[in-house]
Amino acid sequence: MSSTKVYVSTLDAVVDPADAKVSVFDRGFLYGDSIYETMRTAGGGRPVELERHLQRLTRSGEGIFMDLPLTTDALGELIARTHAATGNDESYVRLMITRGAGPIGLDPRKSDAPTIVIVAQPLALPSEETYRRGLRTVLVHVDKAGGGLIDPGIKTGNYLSNIIALREAIAKGGDDALLVTSAGEVAEGATSNVFAVIEGELCTPHLRAGLLAGITRQVVRELAADIGHPAKECVVRPQALASASEVFLTSSVRGIMPVTAIDGTSVGAGEVGPVTTALRARYEAYIASYG
Ligand SMILES: Cc1ncc(COP(=O)(O)O)c(C=O)c1O
Repeated sequence: MSSTKVYVSTLDAVVDPADAKVSVFDRGFLYGDSIYETMRTAGGGRPVELERHLQRLTRSGEGIFMDLPLTTDALGELIARTHAATGNDESYVRLMITRGAGPIGLDPRKSDAPTIVIVAQPLALPSEETYRRGLRTVLVHVDKAGGGLIDPGIKTGNYLSNIIALREAIAKGGDDALLVTSAGEVAEGATSNVFAVIEGELCTPHLRAGLLAGITRQVVRELAADIGHPAKECVVRPQALASASEVFLTSSVRGIMPVTAIDGTSVGAGEVGPVTTALRARYEAYIASYG
């Protein structure tokens, strides 16, 4: 039997979704005053790259001046406990930590204690057909990196820029958005990083463009080097992307997702290219190595 289970720190229990409740005075709800990580398990319940996810969570906490309420080991144990309660072969896991509940008001000292919520639900990857067909993407200009106050390099509960970008992409008939910064650089997807084969070279936007340092981005760079296609960090502008022979997105929950169209124009031949195919095979082998 597979199911969704939720750990809620204020209940100190793993419960069914219907019983998973937090206060409406929780600052995660009031202000998006929270940090989170999304990951998947493999090999029968082992969270993929758990250590790197918890390191990034710690950095995100530092970025918003919030100490993690538990050690990373204790958080890892709670994730294992939540997954174990689901009965799932593999889970999609979302770990959230908010600054906690308190009287309304911005002052962060108003919260009593951070709230931890962990959702584990059956892992539902995109269909093979989606990987074969690839995504249609839309370039969306956001001022997140240049004008925004929140560092895109930390993973907070504030995803409004990305939600609005995705909404725009969908309104234009796309499946996903590619975010273009005020400096005119392609930074990342709405919930993913971007790679492109440009003039035969695999590249990914450099962190200075203003993006989340994806765990999968790092893993893919390591795997790409292994198979002789090292990926360098570059400035990627929409014009360069338009000339790319291959483009793909990376994230913990979708792995390597091909992009076959940008703003209605095919990428390369409009089919998944050889570098993407080779890397996907290598990535699947890496996931299988968790067994
Ligand atoms: C904005 C953004 N960029 C990139 C990523 C990919 O990161 P990861 O590979 O760690 O899942 C995500 C994942 O959620 C994201 O939200």
